[in-house]
Amino acid sequence: MAIGFLLFTILALASSLAYASDPSPLQDFCVAVNDSKATVFVNGKICKDPKMVTADDFFFSGLNKAGNTSNPVGSKVTPVNVNQLAGLNTLGISLVRIDYAPYGLNPPHTHPRATEVLVVVQGTLYVGFVTSNPANQNMKNKLFTKILYPGDVFVFPEGLIHFQFNVGKTKAVAFAGLSSQNPGVITIANAVFGSNPPISSDVLTKAFQVNKNVIKHLQGQF
Ligand SMILES: *[C@@H]1O[C@H](CO)[C@@H](O)[C@H](O)[C@H]1NC(C)=O
Ligand SMILES: *[C@@H]1O[C@H](CO)[C@@H](O)[C@H](O)[C@H]1NC(C)=O
Repeated sequence: MAIGFLLFTILALASSLAYASDPSPLQDFCVAVNDSKATVFVNGKICKDPKMVTADDFFFSGLNKAGNTSNPVGSKVTPVNVNQLAGLNTLGISLVRIDYAPYGLNPPHTHPRATEVLVVVQGTLYVGFVTSNPANQNMKNKLFTKILYPGDVFVFPEGLIHFQFNVGKTKAVAFAGLSSQNPGVITIANAVFGSNPPISSDVLTKAFQVNKNVIKHLQGQF
């Protein structure tokens, strides 16, 4: 019994390590070299010579500024990941500011490489995520939702489809930390109906069980 428990504990620890997002750093820092012409491809970015590193490599300024929400969904994400802040390379973490117009939506999307923890600083957000396809077919993809007010925190587990909707008459602002230097984002509607080149409408009509006109209309939106 005791051995069984020990084995279980070791397996649980091992699997939690295997599921960690970004690899752990092997040095204090590895400030990314910002070379758009780099011909060497590695999993991450190449380190700048540590002797050349300065405080500015760990610095970003401007998250006090609201993003422009004049777009069809009425929200704007301002990222601070390794592409904006080179010092984040290999550190497994990043940040976003999200601005929402009244009734603005950050539409259903997923981050393939990160869990997200969000804090509301202004306004009222209706947020939620859906669990993956259940192994037990009697269960549904389960939706978890919450109404958030300033100071409230909510976590979106890695890889799951989630959204935030401003349900207030005023603008809203949130910040979120993500467990990857480069979380990635897949916006569901854009990826499915706005891919380049488009996914065949034969595929989409069968997948969504609607007629071709509905698919053509949706593809026309992106
Ligand atoms: C916000 O974006 C809209 C649409 O792209 C643009 O017309 C407008 O000038 C922008 N506003 C500011 C303050 O940049
Ligand atoms: C890297 O270079 C691009 C293009 O010059 C620039 O837009 C981007 O902000 C730079 N990123 C960092 C982390 O310096």
